[in-house]
Amino acid sequence: MSFRLQPTPVARPNRCQLFGPGSRTALFEKMAASDADVINLDLEDSVAPTDKDQARKNIIEAINDVDWGNKHLSVRINGLDTPYWYRDFVDILEQAGDRVDQFMIPKVGCAGDIYAVDALVTAVEAAKLRTKPVAFEVIIESAAGIAHVEEIAAASPRLQAMSLGAADFAASMGMQTTGIGGTQENYYMAREGEKHWSDPWHWAQAAIVAACRTHGVLPVDGPFGDFSDDEGFRAQARRSATLGMVGKWAIHPKQIALANEVFTPSEDQVTEAREILAAMEQAKANGEGATVYKGRLVDIASIKQAEVIVQQYEMITAT
Ligand code: COA
Ligand code: MG
Repeated sequence: MSFRLQPTPVARPNRCQLFGPGSRTALFEKMAASDADVINLDLEDSVAPTDKDQARKNIIEAINDVDWGNKHLSVRINGLDTPYWYRDFVDILEQAGDRVDQFMIPKVGCAGDIYAVDALVTAVEAAKLRTKPVAFEVIIESAAGIAHVEEIAAASPRLQAMSLGAADFAASMGMQTTGIGGTQENYYMAREGEKHWSDPWHWAQAAIVAACRTHGVLPVDGPFGDFSDDEGFRAQARRSATLGMVGKWAIHPKQIALANEVFTPSEDQVTEAREILAAMEQAKANGEGATVYKGRLVDIASIKQAEVIVQQYEMITAT
């Protein structure tokens, strides 16, 4: 272990982030009643430019009037290259009170982007005597974002989560696809007439997880566009969970149960993790640092691996 300890991210479930356009007010109550841990009311790309002002008003009203229960309530603001973003922050912070937990900042390209919005938000909070600092989540969805991912992860103590946004990321990278996440038809290895599909999102996800874990931020997988493809969603989500991500977006209510299923450790996983911890307790009592569990090596590193699963399960079931 480095002398600098790895910080722990915020302890709240973030298995599913449900999105809904700020212009579709009929969805707000349904979103509040859903099983998603995080709600993302959107002002950015699901809202047409002519609807931005009305959508902002709708969101302020919904934050104040809808019963969001214990959900982590987040608003996705417009990008810093638009004329809308400053008003998104100022109006929401001034008019929506303390119930808003988080702002999601899209298309972040460098730590300076976060510095700028942090300065604005800090000033508005001070002027409004707001006692609970609003959190940030960022979306890594550009070449600059992934190139500067570590400085972005370190940019502000407000930063709680970081998502990969597959569609804008693909466009910014010049990737030849219109698919939003998941398997890409042309990304395969071939041998003896057989195709094996690889994962073009893997390296960006791994880079995000490493940056997040270094700086105590939750790494999250973004949207999966084809909401009629449950098998594809599950496979993508399982790969993300295996890499260390804690959750995934839902762009349709169908995807909520799938995300919750994948990102809640299963009974079998938890039982096995607890058995490994018990086996290592026994090994310790015998003065050994390693032992055998079900025919395989477990050692002191296995304790940490098992604890990841048990702690995630306990945190989720406690809320
Ligand atoms: N949250 C909560 N409920 C939703 C919902 C959402 N995001 N999207 C749809 N629903 C509801 C519908 O109102 C409908 O409810 P009902 O059974 O009471 O009538 C039900 O779920 C089925 O909806 P469906 O008809 O299949 O979808 P739709 O055509 O109304 O909407 C989308 C489909 C994709 C346009 C819509 O889900 C959506 O806007 N998603 C979010 C897009 C977004 O925010 N993108 C930005 C991030 S990438
Ligand atoms: Mg995007």
